[in-house]
Amino acid sequence: MDLSLKLADYPRLDLIGPPTPLEFLPRLSDHLGREIYCKRDDVTPLAMGGNKLRKLEFLAADALRQGADTLVTAGAIQSNHVRQTAAVAAKLGLHCVALLENPFGSEAENYLTNGNRLLLDLFGAEVVMCEGLVDADQQLAELAERLEAQGFRPYVVPVGGSNALGALGYVGCALEIAHQCADQLALGNVVTASGSAGTHAGLAVGLQLLMPATRLIGVTVSRSVAMQRPKVVDLQQQLADTLGIRAPLADITLWDDYFAPGYGMPNEEGQAAIMLLARLEGMLLDPVYTGKAMAGLIDGITQQRFDDGPILFVHTGGAPALFAYHPAV
Ligand SMILES: Cc1ncc(COP(=O)(O)O)c(C=O)c1O
Repeated sequence: MDLSLKLADYPRLDLIGPPTPLEFLPRLSDHLGREIYCKRDDVTPLAMGGNKLRKLEFLAADALRQGADTLVTAGAIQSNHVRQTAAVAAKLGLHCVALLENPFGSEAENYLTNGNRLLLDLFGAEVVMCEGLVDADQQLAELAERLEAQGFRPYVVPVGGSNALGALGYVGCALEIAHQCADQLALGNVVTASGSAGTHAGLAVGLQLLMPATRLIGVTVSRSVAMQRPKVVDLQQQLADTLGIRAPLADITLWDDYFAPGYGMPNEEGQAAIMLLARLEGMLLDPVYTGKAMAGLIDGITQQRFDDGPILFVHTGGAPALFAYHPAV
């Protein structure tokens, strides 16, 4: 099956341009005694980058096709997803309404006003606070209804952009990785953060077809394996159905040892990983997603949890949150 042809069936805006770099990390590799590469989705071009732009290429195209004038989405106060959605809305001349929660009741000034939250104001997004995103789909549907009653034409972007349409963006990322590795780099392992699951599911579907010998590991940032697996598998199945893939689905590997004490709450190993990457590679990770995923990669090497061969870290972005998490949340 030609995956690029399949993807071409879906309307897609070009928000990213050429493939993001796939780089060798020499000093980290020396330090860890393993060959480590990085897929730089943190440097996608819009609004300080990140993984959501790949999903928004499909979702925003769908919004425009439906004649929407407003993107509505939800997340934590420091959501990278909401920041990137607001930026895309601004670029397309759309209104953006963001439903935000304070997931662990932070009272820290920088958490409440700096980082991603500061950027929402710059992009002109309208912010609606809620007590908690207990049933985000339902809450977003209700908000969209209210906006419709006011005369807007809202398009709901689900939390994290993670429905089958958005996750196509990460099938596209798998295609890029496969081209960039081609005959020169036989990856043994790929590591990604696994949150709302679109990144993980898209990579799982793409890599299964394109690089079947490579093992994909999702490091959870908010849930136990038992809670996260159904989310990833459900999206993986929806993607396979969407793309007409009939092969049995690849097994999903999840590591849930690195997200404690909870979503959005930093831990020592994640903070140490942030410091290490900054000092060895001049690379910025974040306290919520990529720091914890990198902590998983580092510990996975120590614990010999990886298959043989080079390891690719999918850098999904998030650095704007560094400013919100300083000095502490
Ligand atoms: C920086 C960063 N990395 C990883 C993720 C997780 O990606 P996904 O929600 O597709 O699982 C997110 C989600 O918001 C993110 O902002």
